[in-house]
Amino acid sequence: MIMKKVIVTCLLFVMTCFVAGCDPINRHVVLSTIFDGVPSMPPPEQICTEYAEKRVEETRQEMALEKSARDAVTKQASQHLPYLEKNCSDCHDKTKKGGLVAPRNELCFVCHTDFVKGAYVHGPVAVGDCYACHLPHNSAFPSLLKTEAGAVCATCHREKRAASSLHDKAAAKQLGCLDCHDPHFSNAPFFLR
Ligand code: HEC
Ligand code: HEC
Ligand code: HEC
Ligand code: HEC
Ligand code: HEC
Repeated sequence: MIMKKVIVTCLLFVMTCFVAGCDPINRHVVLSTIFDGVPSMPPPEQICTEYAEKRVEETRQEMALEKSARDAVTKQASQHLPYLEKNCSDCHDKTKKGGLVAPRNELCFVCHTDFVKGAYVHGPVAVGDCYACHLPHNSAFPSLLKTEAGAVCATCHREKRAASSLHDKAAAKQLGCLDCHDPHFSNAPFFLR
């Protein structure tokens, strides 16, 4: 009696395998619906292979996205001409205090002479702190900026605007600070353009 049951089960098993074909997942689904006690998971190698293939594909897609983002940034990158031309000694002088040809807050004016041309001068520009917004060698952003142009002002101006309704409206219209303000100086108050 028990022997007969075993034989029937084996026959059924072979038949089901035949019907379900060789695909291991398909076979597992069929077997586990018909029989009790079929191991509930496909073999681990199979899970691992599928998972690995999926991860490889996902990683490939992530890398492609990162690359296009990097390319977009590099297209806008900037280089300072004297650095690009390797005229390092135009700015660097080991014999001087601070290692630069002029004190740090005067260095930029050595070449950018007569830079300030306006009655109203922005605080950091007036004191020669060009470094608050610019890098001296090169940058991933245009105009040697330390950050994206749209983010430069917010590195300092986080205080609430006195003219807040005007600024809220401007922000709602997607206007950037540089659309209205010059970052350096102007003949109009608030360095308006
Ligand atoms: C336009 C002026 C200028 C030129 C040209 C220039 N540098 Fe600099 N460099 C600076 C300033 C300013 C600093 C200091 C930055 C600071 O203190 O924030 C600096 C800093 C450095 C430093 C310190 C580490 C760092 O990156 O902050 C090294 C190293 C250096 N420069 C190498 C060079 C070399 C090599 C060249 C030529 C290929 C060069 N510089 C050309 C202005 C210049
Ligand atoms: C040795 C001379 C020299 C010194 C010193 C110098 N610059 Fe320049 N800078 C130049 C030249 C040359 C150019 C390219 C011509 C131009 O745009 O006037 C330039 C261009 C720039 C630009 C425009 C870059 C662009 O891609 O549009 C910025 C921003 C700038 N300099 C900032 C600075 C800052 C900040 C300092 C001080 C750390 C500085 N420069 C010191 C010579 C100098
Ligand atoms: C508050 C931030 C800030 C400070 C401080 C600052 N800059 Fe700029 N600078 C900018 C921005 C933003 C631009 C890009 C302007 C644009 O795209 O309209 C720029 C552009 C420039 C340029 C190229 C275009 C132009 O306007 O001539 C030069 C040169 C320059 N800066 C030099 C300097 C020098 C020299 C100093 C220091 C005396 C300085 N900057 C200080 C924000 C600043
Ligand atoms: C390094 C810090 C710093 C950055 C970055 C900076 N500012 Fe300023 N800003 C100042 C300081 C300091 C003052 C002078 C504060 C004062 O006198 O009330 C000032 C004053 C101003 C004023 C005049 C305020 C007044 O009441 O007269 C305006 C307008 C202004 N900034 C606009 C900008 C814009 C636009 C940007 C971006 C291009 C910017 N700032 C980026 C530091 C910064
Ligand atoms: C639509 C043009 C416009 C835009 C965009 C704009 N501003 Fe202004 N901003 C003005 C005007 C106009 C004033 C003068 C307001 C007044 O007369 O009281 C001003 C004043 C200021 C002042 C001094 C008074 C105050 O309200 O605090 C600061 C600082 C300032 N702006 C910073 C910024 C910054 C930072 C941004 C970018 C986030 C920005 N502005 C964007 C037009 C603009």
